[in-house]
Amino acid sequence: MTSAVHCSTGRLAASILVCYWLGGLISLSYAARFSASRQRLEVQKHLNRLNKPAVKSIQSPDGDIIDCVHMSKQPAFDHPFLRDHKIQMRPSYPPEGLFDENKVSAKQKERTNPVRQLWHQYGKCPEGTIPVRRTKEDDVLRASSVKRYGKKKHRTVPVPRSADPDLINQNGHQHAIAYVEGGKYFGAKATINVWEPRIQRQNEFSLSQIWILGGSFGEDLNSIEAGWQVSPDLYGDNNTRLFTYWTSDAYQATGCYNLLCSGFIQINSEIAMGASISPVSGYRNSQYDISILIWKDPKEGHWWMQFGNDYVLGYWPSFLFSYLADSASMIEWGGEVVNSESDGHHTATQMGSGHFPEEGFSKSSYFRNIQVVDSSNNLKAPKGLGTFTEQSNCYDVQTGNNDDWGHYFYYGGPGKNPNCP
Ligand SMILES: *[C@@H]1O[C@H](CO)[C@@H](O)[C@H](O)[C@H]1NC(C)=O
Repeated sequence: MTSAVHCSTGRLAASILVCYWLGGLISLSYAARFSASRQRLEVQKHLNRLNKPAVKSIQSPDGDIIDCVHMSKQPAFDHPFLRDHKIQMRPSYPPEGLFDENKVSAKQKERTNPVRQLWHQYGKCPEGTIPVRRTKEDDVLRASSVKRYGKKKHRTVPVPRSADPDLINQNGHQHAIAYVEGGKYFGAKATINVWEPRIQRQNEFSLSQIWILGGSFGEDLNSIEAGWQVSPDLYGDNNTRLFTYWTSDAYQATGCYNLLCSGFIQINSEIAMGASISPVSGYRNSQYDISILIWKDPKEGHWWMQFGNDYVLGYWPSFLFSYLADSASMIEWGGEVVNSESDGHHTATQMGSGHFPEEGFSKSSYFRNIQVVDSSNNLKAPKGLGTFTEQSNCYDVQTGNNDDWGHYFYYGGPGKNPNCP
């Protein structure tokens, strides 16, 4: 590249210097523009990899475009191990002992409502296709790099009772969770209250999810995660969205959110990962919740995910994992936020509803009917449920147990408040 500045040699050394300086500035801006166009090219290439050809596209009221992609063209099949994979259209064995929603009292049924996805108002994906949230250029540009787009920035698994302070204080991530450990687990279920917590800063998020964990908390930690999240960085807005995550190396090279890398195989044509869920609950108002079940099929060993009572979304093939190829060693349920602490104060980013557990139903957020899947593929009440939170004055958790809700807990909080400055 040549500089466009033409400098005549002046008699004064200073003017020559100024001339060099100007020329340097201009070639710098050339370099910047060149690298910007190279970045644009890189982003475009990544978008072409992620966004598969659509049979039909649906414009959602929240600005998303949902592409109906032929099932055999989905991102999973970019994985070298999946080139010849035959899609399994249903699990061989759903777990037994699902919490019987028919048993739930009529009064209870009136209190909570199932939710749907916003884009459903504007169309349906044809059979044989799956709905995929289209990634836009801006989505990728908000990430720290093209390579990191769709991946977690840090390891963010809460480590209850850890002696290692580095594991407890993970880049300001804060949790309020219930968990079981010490057994072999083959899945977990929960019905999760849905809210739209306020996020104070663009680089923070708030989520409520299930973690299925394998291995100790080392560099090879395996994790499968699903729930709802508000993440301005990932989606460009404050909407509450259904999400999944997986990793087989503690959030380093493998895994991603939703379908943003190859791994998860989706078979369902009605639910889109990463799409907004609607409606959300209101304080002292209507309450909405979603059910999520993740379990390991005893025949093929894949990890399946079901949303609500009706939607089997698909599966994570067993070979993606090391420890989870056998079983999980820990299950966690609950909330997580990022506290960026940028001004020395605690963030006011909310977890759950933004209200503490003490406030109870229709004010504080809940997980109800939490269960684990045992080695006989039976859903069971969790034994020895523990709780964990880094700073209970900021976000807290309280467990309980009754006939309508089985094992449940309330969790969350406002973050910054007089007791959490
Ligand atoms: C998200 O919410 C924050 C306040 O909580 C607001 O400042 C920001 O503008 C919102 N972002 C969008 C994209 O609506």
